[in-house]
Amino acid sequence: MRLHHVVAAQDFNRGMLEELFDRARDMEGVVARGGSKLLDGMIMASLFYEESTRTRFSFESAMLRLGGSVISTENARQFSSVSKGETLEDTIRILNGYTDVIVMRHYESGAARRAADISRVPIINAGDGTGQHPTQAFLDLYTIQKELGRIDGIQIAVVGDLANGRTVRSLCYLLAKYRDVRIYLVAPEVVRMREDIKEYLARNDVRFVEESDLRSIAPIVDVLYQTRIQKERFGDRTEDYRAARGVYVVDRDLISRMKPDSIIMHPLPRVDEIDVEVDADPRAAYFRQAQNGVYIRMALLAACLARDLPAPGAADGNGSGIDASLISQLR
Ligand code: CP
Repeated sequence: MRLHHVVAAQDFNRGMLEELFDRARDMEGVVARGGSKLLDGMIMASLFYEESTRTRFSFESAMLRLGGSVISTENARQFSSVSKGETLEDTIRILNGYTDVIVMRHYESGAARRAADISRVPIINAGDGTGQHPTQAFLDLYTIQKELGRIDGIQIAVVGDLANGRTVRSLCYLLAKYRDVRIYLVAPEVVRMREDIKEYLARNDVRFVEESDLRSIAPIVDVLYQTRIQKERFGDRTEDYRAARGVYVVDRDLISRMKPDSIIMHPLPRVDEIDVEVDADPRAAYFRQAQNGVYIRMALLAACLARDLPAPGAADGNGSGIDASLISQLR
């Protein structure tokens, strides 16, 4: 698999996802061995117009662990020349001369596609407004595969701000690639899942249902995927925000109803929608999920940039899936 732009989750088919997960597993081995020089000499620009902790740091960590370098701006909306009126397109054209890949988070849905349409170097969508967050969805599925040993046949509740949540939108696109998945959409009335995703699921024969009683489905789901009510997306609709916040909270009482082999996920950050008392439960997978972001993003960067990428798990004896000549400089 060679990748160019990574813009939308639905651009990936099941075979590509499986290869990506195989490579992410290889990358776990690379990290355990101290990193590699696979992307030595390559430069990644992180161009973030919105706040981030996990996505930005895990991409930067991934690039550094593969021997590449990173350039970035602290806050592209304030400190790049967009504040002087420069367009996104001009910014991308300029960065094409400075970098080998651009990881971009933007506040407008569709911005990643606009950037990809004019960029020679790969654009990786790190979240575009209320549009998509495909690399989060890749690491979410990788986590489910790792934790449960399967994705086919799972029952999953996606909970919270489904109208504005770009992570759940991308996740739904990917879940549609798997067999016999059942999705429960659990959201306060003012932030129900938008029609485009429901139509996509219906078109792809994915069983889904909108459910308001989280307690009633807690005992049957394999994955409870909680999300934050995103205050920043409500603008002056403060009444709607108040109506949505606190409706669904994952606490000790709720998880006492869940199966012993189920998992609780969250793309993070959380505010108060998962009680901190839940963190100590072995089913709380959200911090392991965030860690998986490094391995998935290493695999994505390698698939975009590595000049000579052998098959995952290649029989070179090093278990990394990366040709021995390329890891000869393992630190
Ligand atoms: N999950 C996620 O996108 O987190 P950040 O906003 O911290 O990057």
